[in-house]
Amino acid sequence: MNDTTTHFLLQVDGLAKHYPVSTGFLKPKGLVRALDGVSFHLESGRTLAVVGESGCGKTTLARQIMMIETPTAGHLRIEGTDLAIADAAEKKRLRPLVQMVFQNPYASLNPRKRVGSMLEEPLKIHTTLNAAGRHERACAMMERVGLRPEHYGRYPHMFSGGQRQRIAIARALMTGPRLIVADEPVSALDVSIQAQVLNLLMDLQAETRVACVFISHNLAVVEHIADEVLVMYLGRVVEHGSKREIFDHPRHPYTRALLSATPRVDPGQRQVRFLARGELPSPLDPPPGCAFHRRCPHAIDACRIDVPELRTVGGHLAACHRAEEL
Ligand SMILES: Nc1ncnc2c1ncn2[C@@H]1O[C@H](COP(=O)(O)OP(=O)(O)OP(=O)(O)O)[C@@H](O)[C@H]1O
Ligand code: SF4
Ligand SMILES: [Mg+2]
Repeated sequence: MNDTTTHFLLQVDGLAKHYPVSTGFLKPKGLVRALDGVSFHLESGRTLAVVGESGCGKTTLARQIMMIETPTAGHLRIEGTDLAIADAAEKKRLRPLVQMVFQNPYASLNPRKRVGSMLEEPLKIHTTLNAAGRHERACAMMERVGLRPEHYGRYPHMFSGGQRQRIAIARALMTGPRLIVADEPVSALDVSIQAQVLNLLMDLQAETRVACVFISHNLAVVEHIADEVLVMYLGRVVEHGSKREIFDHPRHPYTRALLSATPRVDPGQRQVRFLARGELPSPLDPPPGCAFHRRCPHAIDACRIDVPELRTVGGHLAACHRAEEL
């Protein structure tokens, strides 16, 4: 169903992406449940941070939102339009509204293109502006992200990592998107540069009301930039709430383990080591019940059998049988 009356910019409902993979010669194909029933809504201008260990499905989620892949099941709605039933013309209209910023600014910019033409390229595809109009827009955007006019004719290799990420952000914003998907956008940058790029992103969001799905496994970065936090574990959402709720009152043992491994700005908060035992299980063969039970210090018998549903606990959502008592 296409519902254009909703105020949510992005609606994700029961989204799943399963990849068939070979498990060995003459063996049956396995199924990686990279996403397994993910739901959340995001409003304009807000930043949702998606966190979780490597392999939990963050980039898979990004690829579905970017319309690079088709989900196995579930619904993705952008400005109320359901991508599962949108026709080619509707998808073409939506594409410029959702833009991506990648982790590696060295790989994501074409080395043979000058900055100016890189910024003008999306305008050629998605607008009817003439050359003078495109040039004017590119120069205005360059100034906005802190690049100088003489940078217009330069190639990517002539810039630092931080400057390249500014170019990537500028390029993403050229079509006036409503949503930016940023997959670890500062993790390849020097720590001293990270805050500048994050602050730029936040300033641009305040000006343009563009929403952001911000993927990161650095919770210090997430605490700086996010409005909401979504914690994923093996393709599922285990906790979701406002940044303050998740950082100050985490309910899920996995979230607590992630937080315990993150240095906090507040020196009163004592550091403990990552509380989860053992390794992340294989997504090809996830444990029954709560997928976290073999690593959880609070597991009880029910955790080995029943899958905990995501439900309201206190002021946010958590998927843990013991969320109320912990
Ligand atoms: N095209 C694919 N074919 C098969 N399996 C895949 C494919 N893409 C991803 N996967 C698997 O899906 C799971 C989720 O991968 P994904 O890249 O989304 O994780 P991630 O959370 O982004 O991890 P990282 O933090 O390392 O970037 C992993 O087990 C991965 O191996
Ligand atoms: S459901 Fe059980 S195993 Fe899973 S996180 Fe909660 S207490 Fe731990
Ligand atoms: Mg990834």
